[in-house]
Amino acid sequence: STVDDTSNGAVGSTGNGAVSGTANGPLTGTVHENVHLLPQTRQLRALHTVIRDRHAALDRFVTTSGRIIRQLIETALDLLPYEPLDVQTPVGRTYHGLRPARPICGVPVVRAGESMEHELRVMSPGVRIGKILIQRDKVTKLPRLYYSALPADIDRHSVLLLDPMLATGGTALAAVQVLLDHGVAEDDIVFVALLAAPEGIAAVHARHPNLRIVTSAIEERLNENAYMIPGIGDFGDRYFGTD
Ligand code: URA
Repeated sequence: STVDDTSNGAVGSTGNGAVSGTANGPLTGTVHENVHLLPQTRQLRALHTVIRDRHAALDRFVTTSGRIIRQLIETALDLLPYEPLDVQTPVGRTYHGLRPARPICGVPVVRAGESMEHELRVMSPGVRIGKILIQRDKVTKLPRLYYSALPADIDRHSVLLLDPMLATGGTALAAVQVLLDHGVAEDDIVFVALLAAPEGIAAVHARHPNLRIVTSAIEERLNENAYMIPGIGDFGDRYFGTD
C-alpha cells in the first residue's frame, strides 16, 4: 500500500509554509513565517526512517544524514540574497542569471554542527568556516561560550549557523548572540537544523523574530531530559560513533 500522510509524531508541511499537526502531534496552524520546513516527501521520510532507527549502523547514519543535510543547505542557500549576473552561453546568447550578493560563512556549533560542514563545503567550495563551542555549565546549567573563531569581517557575510539539533533553544540563542556581538545582523543569519522542537523554535523566535530557521522535521516535544520526541537520540554521539 502507499502512504502519503504523516502519522508518526513529526509534523508535516501543508505546502504553503504553514505547518499542520498530526494524529500524535500537538501543533496545528502556522508555527512561524520564518520557519522553512523541507517538503515532507516520501523520500525525505524514508531518509528519516533510516537515521531515526535506533539500530542504524554508523556508516548508514552518516551517509543518510548527509543526504538530508544537503537538502537543508540547498534550501538555506536559496534564502540568501542574490544579484543579477549575465553570462554568454556557448551558442551566443545571454543568460540572465544570478549570483550570491554576499560572501557566505558557515558557522558550525561544535561538535554536532561539524557534521554539516562537509556538505556545505561540497556545495560551496569557497565558503569560509567559523566555529563556536558552547556547552552547558555544570553548576549554573546555563549555556556558556568556551571558544569561537570567526572571520574578522563576518558582518559582511551571509551566515549559515549549523547545529543539527534545535532542542531547548539555549545553545542556539547563545550562538546567535555571539554572531550579533560580532556585528552580524539578525536577518543575515539562517539557522540550519536537522530536527527542531517547538520549544526551541519558540525560544529562538521570542528573542529573534527575524531569524530564519530551516529544518527537515518539527518534532512533537521535548522529554524531561530535553531530548526530542520522537527524535533521534544524541545526534553527535550517533554521527561520530561515540555512543
Ligand atoms: N541534542 C540531541 O542530540 N538530541 C536531542 O534530542 C536533543 C538535543
